[in-house]
Amino acid sequence: MPEAISYERVGDIAVLKAQNPPVNALGYDVRVGLVEGIERAEKDEGVRAVLIYGDGSTYFAGADIREFGKPPRQPHLTEVCNRIESSPLLVVSSIHGTALGGGLEVAMSTHYRIAVPSAKVGLPEVLLGVLPGAGGTQRLPRLTGLDAALDIITTGRHVKAKEALDLGVIDKLEEGEPREIGLAYVQELLDSGAPRRVVSELPAPAPIDFDAVYESVLKRGRGQISPATAVRAVQGSVEKPFAEGLKYERELFMELMGTDQRQGLIHAFFSERQVSKLPELKGVEPRPLNSIGVIGGGTMGAGIATSALLAGLPVVLLEMTPEAAAAAQGRIEGNLSGALKRGKISQAKFEDMTQKALTVSTDYAALSDVDLVVEAVFEEMGVKKTVFGKLDEVCKKGAILASNTSYLDVDEIAASTSRPEDVIGLHFFSPAHVMKLLEVVVADKTAIDVVATGFALGKKLGKISVRAGVCDGFIGNRILKTYRTAADHMVLDGASPYQIDKALTDFGFAMGPYAVGDLAGLDIGWATRKRLAGSRDPRERISIYPDKMCEAGNFGQKTGKGYYIYEAGKRAGVPNPEVMELIEAERAEKGITPRAFSDEEIVRRYMAAMVNEGAKVLEEGIARRPLDIDMVFLFGYGFPRYYGGPMKWADLQGLPGLLEDIKTYAKEDDFFWQPAKLLEDLVAEGKTFDDLNQAAG
Ligand code: 3HC
Ligand code: NAI
Repeated sequence: MPEAISYERVGDIAVLKAQNPPVNALGYDVRVGLVEGIERAEKDEGVRAVLIYGDGSTYFAGADIREFGKPPRQPHLTEVCNRIESSPLLVVSSIHGTALGGGLEVAMSTHYRIAVPSAKVGLPEVLLGVLPGAGGTQRLPRLTGLDAALDIITTGRHVKAKEALDLGVIDKLEEGEPREIGLAYVQELLDSGAPRRVVSELPAPAPIDFDAVYESVLKRGRGQISPATAVRAVQGSVEKPFAEGLKYERELFMELMGTDQRQGLIHAFFSERQVSKLPELKGVEPRPLNSIGVIGGGTMGAGIATSALLAGLPVVLLEMTPEAAAAAQGRIEGNLSGALKRGKISQAKFEDMTQKALTVSTDYAALSDVDLVVEAVFEEMGVKKTVFGKLDEVCKKGAILASNTSYLDVDEIAASTSRPEDVIGLHFFSPAHVMKLLEVVVADKTAIDVVATGFALGKKLGKISVRAGVCDGFIGNRILKTYRTAADHMVLDGASPYQIDKALTDFGFAMGPYAVGDLAGLDIGWATRKRLAGSRDPRERISIYPDKMCEAGNFGQKTGKGYYIYEAGKRAGVPNPEVMELIEAERAEKGITPRAFSDEEIVRRYMAAMVNEGAKVLEEGIARRPLDIDMVFLFGYGFPRYYGGPMKWADLQGLPGLLEDIKTYAKEDDFFWQPAKLLEDLVAEGKTFDDLNQAAG
């Protein structure tokens, strides 16, 4: 194991190379190594300057996040930075890959910075629930001024090298190897007699109205507190001497370190990387994936085709009639022209994708050579079976046959072919070229290399892929159905859909469930209710009024009226008074005396339903790990990232209290509120969902 920081002498330059793969995170060994390296250089006779750079793919990508929440070990990164900055030697950073968080803080404490043009810098700490805690909020404003510093710190965005050069964060750009360009730059600085440039000694910018900035950043955070807290730290850089500002930054950093939001965001960071790592896929070679077919060019098919085209995959899209095919082509072109307008693709790429890479057809024979087909036709088992029967006839041997079904049984679909091992569910979310989630639904007979290919496709399309088992609605829609039902029960009992939407947006959701219903189309739920009508348990409490809304042709946004009324050109609606009339009539008919719900109770019931169903989904093996459920909700359902996901939220709340709630609710309705056995077991054993994540490795 090489030292975390190696020392090399090149003429009168000491070279410190970081060797802490994979991203040269600034863990304890690296921090110690940096201090020792500087001390050694200062004692090394004839050394006039120090070059710091990273081995492998990057400069320092930040503090070691795995150390968060553990007792801090000296030296703190702040001390390391101060030690580097105060060295009498000229200290220079050579940056490649990413200088993020603590990485950029180290770079800003060196006296000059050179970078390769592909490098990126940034202070993404707020995205992890903390703020730059090693001088970043004090040094960056001195280099760039307040506007850029506040933008970079409160958004956490990655800044490309060219922009960083323009902002004064980087002093020079040069193509080449970090060691070579760094050495040449140090030599150039020594030859020209350049002085040490000590950022902490630069004048602080003039004050601005920080309260106004704080308020607007707080609002933008939708409940997330780290970006707004970072504004206060930046304020310290202007209002306090450097050393005092550093102390203030540290205090705020430690405050955030102690929050649930920090735990939620770090959980999200690691889970996002963990979620597609499945032990059974280790060493399994995915099948070739050079072209895909899509059947059905409606909302989903067009979105899936767009996503594939954007990822560079040629697409053959099959529709029922030439008119439908032309409409599908139009939808895809519309999606891609959005990407063109936003500068995501060039005009040439747009033309290439729409004219060369996309083929629309009404003839199944066009699919004979594709590697993978995603079916996105109407949500009816009969239609799906006919389509899969045809695919079985025309697709080449080894082609993967996937369904985008939302709820239907993938085992049954697979059984309608002679090659069930090639059949899988690939459940995209709407709009499919935007939403990051992909549920990879593994059926009984799905071959392992088909699963691997599902994940490979997800990666190619830039999705977060989550393994799911077969059940009605898989992971996400199954849980959604349950907490939607909890909300519907509250409406019957006295809450209004509008109070529920408001309580949940205040909680942090981008939209409440009824506004989401309007967006997705109320006809979808109507169809599902009709499908399940025959199999309902008589103990189930159901509402009739949503059916009445649909019978009147009110499907939500697409018809201009649902729970809300939508004026042309406006996305947000105003409450539709007819809905409350229907609800009140139904309550009267059912003999329900409405009662008041506090916003807190609404959130607790909604979340309890979500977590309890999540635990059942785990118990049945539909999701393997709690983190899989968390990622489904973060990337498919707009769950606030700073809670980490519903299962992480539950851990942070405490599982015993949640189980108590469920048992209390069960006294009113013991059919709906049946505690999950897994939840009861965890509480009995004093364990958390995270313990299950750890046990799964
Ligand atoms: N600490 C510990 N581990 C880290 C890490 C960090 N800062 N950054 C990345 N890793 C790990 C990942 O978990 C992953 O581990 P795995 O292979 O076991 O899953 C591995 O390094 C590779 O990471 P990625 O898969 O993300 O690799 P990419 O090449 O896609 O991305 C990256 C590289 C852009 C550096 C990305 O990893 C990233 O954004 N990292 C986080 C950067 C960050 O937020 N830094 C700020 C930290 S907070 C801080 O510095 C506080 C300070 O102000 C005091
Ligand atoms: P849609 O009604 O917008 O599109 C369906 C398309 O399939 C239509 O254009 C129709 O012409 C075409 N089609 C129907 N039968 C066909 C056949 N035999 N051959 C070729 N084309 C045929 O429906 P949408 O919303 O795109 O849904 C499609 C599938 O995706 C459904 O299974 C649905 O459950 C699923 N899904 C829908 C989501 C949504 O939010 N709309 C989200 C995730 C999955």
